[in-house]
Amino acid sequence: MQSKRSRLDRFISRHLQIPKKQVRLLLAQGRVMVDGVIARDIDLQIDQFSHIICDGLVLQQRQARYIMLNKPVGMVCATKDDKHRTVIDLLKETVNYSPNGIQPNNIQPNSNQVQCDDLHIVGRLDLNTSGLVLLTNDGQWSKRIMSPEHKVNKRYLVTLKNPIDEEYVQAFADGFYFAFEGITTLPATLEIVSSHRALVTLQEGRYHQIKRMFGRFRNPVVALHRLSVGDIRLDDTLLPGQSRQLTADEITLV
Ligand code: URA
Repeated sequence: MQSKRSRLDRFISRHLQIPKKQVRLLLAQGRVMVDGVIARDIDLQIDQFSHIICDGLVLQQRQARYIMLNKPVGMVCATKDDKHRTVIDLLKETVNYSPNGIQPNNIQPNSNQVQCDDLHIVGRLDLNTSGLVLLTNDGQWSKRIMSPEHKVNKRYLVTLKNPIDEEYVQAFADGFYFAFEGITTLPATLEIVSSHRALVTLQEGRYHQIKRMFGRFRNPVVALHRLSVGDIRLDDTLLPGQSRQLTADEITLV
């Protein structure tokens, strides 16, 4: 994933508050290291996660983090909430995760706790929706997933109170007019799994979208579970409340 890039000389000049001429000298003298390699090129492009050291002084050292969480029902997708526990609270209680390693969230006092301060949620779920929630500190990555132009698919398993009718399939494909927003929803796919269960794929994420769509048929949603975002699928070995880092391959899947 490409993060937003900027020029090394600009970064150092701004960071150390020295003129670019002086930065050029530092580079020529081999006093700057980027990601463990001596940097001499003033045009070198860096991003928010490049590790930059000048004369032994760390100017930037930030690790990109990408996490998948199996959100349980009853947790809020927010960083803070007065009434409910949030997905960030949940991660904070989770012992430190290793790359690709699944960690149970049984609390171990003073254990290495997950660093959550700079994480944000990529596409929220409602309080009573469960399933895949992505979290990251890479704003470019989340922007791409969330941007309407990229039309990233979000797939949900929906359980309904009443039987599903075949006519829903076409209605979902045609879209629904949402008067509050003054928009018609993008074509969505509905696959009937059984009399009361369907798989729904959306390319957008309007407020309570799936519940409102089924609401048009006066068929209440009794359970909603997100299975995937783009080609990132919820790891089915993660129990509700468990999380793990995304693999390098998964990060590039959206
Ligand atoms: N649609 C909903 O109604 N709720 C969600 O959490 C996600 C999609």
